[in-house]
Amino acid sequence: MVRAFEPRPIPKEVVERILDNAQRGPSSGYSQGFDFLVFDGREMTNISWRHLASEEESHEPSNTEDEVVNASLIIVPLAHSQAYVRRYLEPDKKHFGRKSEEDWPAPYWFIDTAFASMLVLLTAVDAGLGAYYFSIGPTSKSIPIFKNAFGIPDEYYPIGAIAIGYPGESKPSPSLKRGKRPKSEVMHFGKW
Ligand SMILES: Cc1cc2nc3c(=O)[nH]c(=O)nc-3n(C[C@H](O)[C@H](O)[C@H](O)COP(=O)(O)O)c2cc1C
Repeated sequence: MVRAFEPRPIPKEVVERILDNAQRGPSSGYSQGFDFLVFDGREMTNISWRHLASEEESHEPSNTEDEVVNASLIIVPLAHSQAYVRRYLEPDKKHFGRKSEEDWPAPYWFIDTAFASMLVLLTAVDAGLGAYYFSIGPTSKSIPIFKNAFGIPDEYYPIGAIAIGYPGESKPSPSLKRGKRPKSEVMHFGKW
């Protein structure tokens, strides 16, 4: 995660590549229950910040530099649960017996939207950019306020926001002091 950016625009073809790859993640039943709200260019990103990180509701000010606002692209991935509910009522899927969100063992719409978000992050890094994923917060009221500001329909849930741009000087997140968990503790071979 890069939390400070240079004030430089991202070439159009790079933006297009990021958006193309965002649609290439796996999705159960090829439901593709993800949409993206895209703020491309500083004029648009400036508007988005008002609703992503207002003064009263600033997200993690402790580890976010002022230069985060230089990001020239912000992508908000939105999970669409009803796309799965509808898909699983189709003839080839209805034997699963899933009729509403509660019938899923895990919310596939969040899984698939997170896969898509990872592709956005990887494409950004592959293009020599930096990216920063953060949650829309800090309270449960922040999501409806955000949705209302940009006319997002009820069925869609913004899982967070990804700020992208040319990396500036950013301090590492204090969370990194935790260190990476040892592989031997994380990997369970054959049995737990
Ligand atoms: C679901 C999720 C929410 C996150 N929210 C924030 C956030 O609100 N603010 C922030 O600074 N970083 C946020 N992060 C980034 C993590 O803090 C970061 O990935 C972690 O410190 C590891 O750093 P690295 O990804 O650069 O290795 C979030 C990451 C995830 C996966």
